[in-house]
Amino acid sequence: MQVIVCDQPDEATELAANEILAALEKKPDLVLGLATGSTPIGIYSRLVRAHQEDKVDFSRVRTFNLDEFVGPPSDHPRSYRSFMRKHLFDGVNVNEGNIHFPPVEGPALRDKCRDFEATIRDAGGIDIQILGIGRNGHIGFNEPTSSLASRTRIKTLTEKTLLDNSRFDREKDSTQKLAPTLAATAGIGTILDARRIMLQAFGRAKAEAVRVSIEGPISSFWPGSALQLHDDVTFYLDLESSALLTMVDYYRQVRKNAQELEERGLM
Ligand code: PGA
Repeated sequence: MQVIVCDQPDEATELAANEILAALEKKPDLVLGLATGSTPIGIYSRLVRAHQEDKVDFSRVRTFNLDEFVGPPSDHPRSYRSFMRKHLFDGVNVNEGNIHFPPVEGPALRDKCRDFEATIRDAGGIDIQILGIGRNGHIGFNEPTSSLASRTRIKTLTEKTLLDNSRFDREKDSTQKLAPTLAATAGIGTILDARRIMLQAFGRAKAEAVRVSIEGPISSFWPGSALQLHDDVTFYLDLESSALLTMVDYYRQVRKNAQELEERGLM
């Protein structure tokens, strides 16, 4: 586990976006695991800019989103499909047929969740999984007490998550308001299968979830702590989200050493 503490979220976002762009250059048919929420927006805007300015090609990229609400139509402004169109898909030349979301339309959702997993496998697995983390430590919509081995399925959202989500409900028209209590989400096991995981967390509200995920015991009560089981995960943090970590000086030293080894051509 690598922990990168930046002075500002922008700096962390730049590092993460640049790594994705470099991976895309190496592998034009990169398989990306995508997250929604306010945290990854900076990565997406940098990817869109790179496409528009530097002609970075997304035509062969395959994408798998982590989660989607059950209930609202896919073109609802609060659906995660709409979110992704607005922040990434409409700004790059990704192929519609290469975009995948966990299933939210029945019947047979359980079977369709299994199909979603099979589609990830058929694509060769996820190369890079982008993640945020909830205040309650959820990754995707794997709420506290989710099995650490869970696969894609329908989950009931917690009160805390519903409260956090309600901040996006700005529509004046109450018929446009969305209060989904269910979501389809990739499981913790699904996330851990990704070859590389990049988690970003910014702001004081995330500090406890970040502390337990990095330094706490592995527990289904804090789903982010399952990432300790992964061999290639980086936490990109700002000063506020890292405020409760006890070994922050050590993480800085580790990063400095890694940079030095790289400069000397040893890595
Ligand atoms: P946020 O959500 O990026 O909007 O803070 C993260 C999450 O709940 O996973």
